[in-house]
Amino acid sequence: MSLLPDLFIQNCGQLLTAAGASQMPKTLQGMNDIGIILDGAVAIKDGNIIDVGTTRQLGKKYNRKGVHIIDALGKVVLPGFVDCHTHAVFGGDRAGEFVQRIQGENYVEILKKGGGILSTVKKTRKLTLEKLVEVSKKHLDTMLLQGTTTAEIKSGYGLNKKDELKILKAIQYLQKTHQINIISTFLGGHTVPAEYKSNPNAYVDLICNMLQEVKPYATFCDVFCDEGGFDVQQSERMLSAAKKLGFRLKIHVNEFKDIGGLPLAIRLCVTSADHLDNIRHRDILKLKESGIICVLLPGVPFFLMKDNYAPGRKMIEDGLPIALATDFNPGTCPCENIQMIVTLACLKLGMTPAQAINAVTINAAHAVGMADRIGSIELGKQADMIILDIQDYNQIPYYFGTNHVKNVLKKGTLIVENKQLVDLR
Ligand code: NIG
Ligand code: FE
Repeated sequence: MSLLPDLFIQNCGQLLTAAGASQMPKTLQGMNDIGIILDGAVAIKDGNIIDVGTTRQLGKKYNRKGVHIIDALGKVVLPGFVDCHTHAVFGGDRAGEFVQRIQGENYVEILKKGGGILSTVKKTRKLTLEKLVEVSKKHLDTMLLQGTTTAEIKSGYGLNKKDELKILKAIQYLQKTHQINIISTFLGGHTVPAEYKSNPNAYVDLICNMLQEVKPYATFCDVFCDEGGFDVQQSERMLSAAKKLGFRLKIHVNEFKDIGGLPLAIRLCVTSADHLDNIRHRDILKLKESGIICVLLPGVPFFLMKDNYAPGRKMIEDGLPIALATDFNPGTCPCENIQMIVTLACLKLGMTPAQAINAVTINAAHAVGMADRIGSIELGKQADMIILDIQDYNQIPYYFGTNHVKNVLKKGTLIVENKQLVDLR
């Protein structure tokens, strides 16, 4: 058996490995260390990374006949982005509501009047499984072109058994067919559908009774524990029933209001607590002991024109493991580009580019329970890597609003080349 790699990537001006945190997420000083190798090189065999070093060290060994060589030409190379919180499977859009909000209407008020999430539910229920797959694939293609190689996707726009299952089946189909690695989450507890407005507890019962049937389709179960969603007691009923069935847990919490969901998150040992825009200092300290990953989503307050961003820098100083994600959804953040989220994390959460990059790679991989396979460039890991058309990683957030991703490698296969999807058929 040949010991030579199939592929050798050389001359990476800055190779950002995010290495050394596959067991435990990065915290404190670790968040500042992006594991940079100047003039880096990576050897890949059978889709996995078999060596990492400088081009000088590795070139002699691997730059050989029969090995496919990619010359990174002095550019920035890093692990593919892990978008650990999205709602990417839905029908229609809410551009009209966006205009209403610019003119002064409030997100939660629109939801209470039957718009918001509920208007997306109406549009999603109308679509066939095939159509839903087709529209969602387009979003995923856009994410991939912008460097996302792994994404978590939540259901939650069906809000009845038939349509939640339809969404989960769409996610499952995309898991099998799309090049992005997908982690599936059941979010039947997204909001109370119109049919149950007068009896939300009966809807909570419905979700609890659905769990067994949706289990084969989802790794995680999530609940929107907030104003406009479910109270702590209702959230606890859904999440603890899911836990008993073997789901891992996530929670949307403190996005609009602190209704006391964090103590519940800690009690139930959720994998991640997401949003946290309205977090109190005493909860930060409690979270620290919990091991919960804090997934911050600064695209949401940005898009909702609010000032209450999660205190990212402070949370890092206090030792919390921070991940970042888009929250891609039609209501609060219709942004598929995680590079834009890195910019917002720097400008609005006070994070440095290095901290933000760790938060969208290795720490995000922890938030979806996949840090043993992805999220960093190190020995044995899946070769999910992106080559950016810049020379310095600080330029990711600096030149904001553009797509820096030139090439994407998934398990060592080039699937985006020169900003175009590669047709592998
Ligand atoms: O994470 N607020 C709850 N869920 C989503 C928004 C969904 C929507 O508005 O369609 C969120 O922000
Ligand atoms: Fe969300």
